[in-house]
Amino acid sequence: MTTCSAPGKVYLFGEHAVVYGEPAVPCAVERRARVTVEPREDGQVRVDAADLSLDGFTVTWGGDVDERPAVDAPASLVEAATAYIDAAVAQARDAADAPEAGFDIAVESDIPLGAGLGSSAAVVVAGIDAATRALDAPLSADEVARRAYEAEFAVQDGQASRADTFCSAMGGAVRVEGDDARTIDAPPLPFVVGYDGGGGDTGELVAGVRALREEHGFAADTVETVGDLTREGERLLAAADADSEPSEELLSALGELMDFDHGLLAALGVSARSLDAMVWAARDAGAAGAKLTGAGGGGCVVALDPTPGTERALEFAAECERSFRAELATEGVRVEAP
Ligand code: MEV
Repeated sequence: MTTCSAPGKVYLFGEHAVVYGEPAVPCAVERRARVTVEPREDGQVRVDAADLSLDGFTVTWGGDVDERPAVDAPASLVEAATAYIDAAVAQARDAADAPEAGFDIAVESDIPLGAGLGSSAAVVVAGIDAATRALDAPLSADEVARRAYEAEFAVQDGQASRADTFCSAMGGAVRVEGDDARTIDAPPLPFVVGYDGGGGDTGELVAGVRALREEHGFAADTVETVGDLTREGERLLAAADADSEPSEELLSALGELMDFDHGLLAALGVSARSLDAMVWAARDAGAAGAKLTGAGGGGCVVALDPTPGTERALEFAAECERSFRAELATEGVRVEAP
């Protein structure tokens, strides 16, 4: 039995624009998905997912999508979760050159599903790492990131960047621009997350931005502007001392860019009333800046605030189901039990 875990992430800057080759800066946060894998002799794949913001579900299938039994959970969420696990299994079988390998897989996660915190990337990254280790074919974190990207790319019909999977595999702050993905230095930023209890459909949201971009030059310009502000944010991070608490000036400059980014994402149609309300609750409480994180449409916002003010204000905001502080996760994918 092998257990691996991988962190979720927040986007400091650049979601959506990264799909069109602009840079993005996601940061891994200490909320993890843990995947336990035990090889099976019969070639079947059995998945227990006790906590993926569902009531929990158990599915057994032989690898063929049509053979899936009905389970007591919303079909779209089960389809989405099983599709990611299926894709991770395919990558692990390929990497280990074991096309017939079967697995018992248990997934536990502190990352709400489809809420912008990279739950699917974390499950895919931890799943590929655990399954290849269980087959005695361990991969480097870089190779796990590459294969996890291939898995997401397949499930999301080619509408995925390397950002979520690379960040989850490597940990820390990263910068992704097209195929170039690398870790960068960043000070310990005081992230606060607000979660509205819902989420959006990444595929649909990405397709919506694509359609707007193809229809209007100004929407294409908006995507490029997200890239410009991300580059500005990268310059601020590069000039900061990564080993010290961030200064008030740095937080205020990063926060201004986050506010701008949120406005541009809203213009691109990927915000939601609940996300806007949480962003404003955070700003009113004194956050240096706040924005939606991930694909949008519902889910989470991320704010910068070293004081308890924003977390408390979000707790009392009607639109917010849960708020929490999210430490930067310096470690990416890791083995929990060999
Ligand atoms: C989703 O977490 C982030 C998007 O930029 C899509 C992607 O990068 O694959 C919306």
